[in-house]
Amino acid sequence: MSELEQLRDTARARIAAAENADALEALRVEYLGKQGSVSALLKTLGKMTPEQRQEEGPKIQSLRAAVADAIAERKTALDNAALEQQLASETMDLSLPAPQSPRGSVHPVSQVMDELAEIFADMGFAVATGPEIEDDWHNFTALNMPESHPARAMHDTFYFPDESADGGKMLLRTHTSPVQVRTMKAQGAPVRIIAPGRVYRSDSDATHTPMFHQIEGLVIDKNIHLGHLKWTLETFLKAFFERDDIVLRLRPSYFPFTEPSVEVDVGFAIENGRRVLGGSGDAPGHAWMELLGSGMVNARVLEMSGLDPDEYQGFAFGVGVDRLAMLKYGMDDLRAFFDGDHRWLDHYGFASFDQPTLSAGVGATA
Ligand code: PHE
Repeated sequence: MSELEQLRDTARARIAAAENADALEALRVEYLGKQGSVSALLKTLGKMTPEQRQEEGPKIQSLRAAVADAIAERKTALDNAALEQQLASETMDLSLPAPQSPRGSVHPVSQVMDELAEIFADMGFAVATGPEIEDDWHNFTALNMPESHPARAMHDTFYFPDESADGGKMLLRTHTSPVQVRTMKAQGAPVRIIAPGRVYRSDSDATHTPMFHQIEGLVIDKNIHLGHLKWTLETFLKAFFERDDIVLRLRPSYFPFTEPSVEVDVGFAIENGRRVLGGSGDAPGHAWMELLGSGMVNARVLEMSGLDPDEYQGFAFGVGVDRLAMLKYGMDDLRAFFDGDHRWLDHYGFASFDQPTLSAGVGATA
């Protein structure tokens, strides 16, 4: 066996035995590197006679190719082995359930809005919406609060620096009542809608947040009177709180957009440190709690909304959705509603498949 063949066989044997990528790289440098032994042999070609070179050249080249092939082959084998090992150590069973199954939940505000939509749909109410960025005319003027009206000051309004196209101020709506105006202007009469949504006032403590939710109710038709309002509120509150013993007290009040205006109180008792609605507020151990504002829609509002007050009358009411949620589901700090803390959401949230229906009871169990 020639010297070159010997060199080739030794190289092949050592390369095949290389245990890892580092060992293989060391062998590559040893044979094929700049100072490597095969490289040194290639350099000797320069000093040979043409005849010698013709004879030795191909042998040395084939030695170099044999070593390079052996290295490439070993590298592939090592790579494959490494991959196999990684696959074996990192196996996972994708059919297993996640150890702690991540679960979204329906926010109590959404849940309560769904419950309200269900209750009012049963009474023939449609759901209407309006913009949260509102103009001063819809939020105030058309609701019988002209500029400089003192009631405007009570609303702690967030105003935008820019004016609207017609020169009015733009603001974040302070209540859902502008949807009354928008709905009457858009569809005329009769009207039977609820308008749930976000409203904004510059106010913040345990029971007030700068953004909160209201639901507006509006019924316009011929011959609508206060009796209809009382029946509607009673029916809605009994269905919502799932109790037949809800008792309401209507008190004269003042809102610029209703005349007469009626503040509605509801009787409750304290049970286990929680307010539980039910019974007359005058009964022993009971008291009245202010729940919502309402009244007969002011004739001026009907006019500004394009209706003839001699032909149509109606009632409106507005109630805090977050407050309804707190009373029904027992949260005591409104700010937590908007913290996005998943522990709170896990506790107070609702299963997404639990659609409120009147037949199954609108109060889903979380
Ligand atoms: N918009 C009133 C408020 O935010 C509530 C209300 C609505 C009162 C409709 C009467 C009629 O306080």
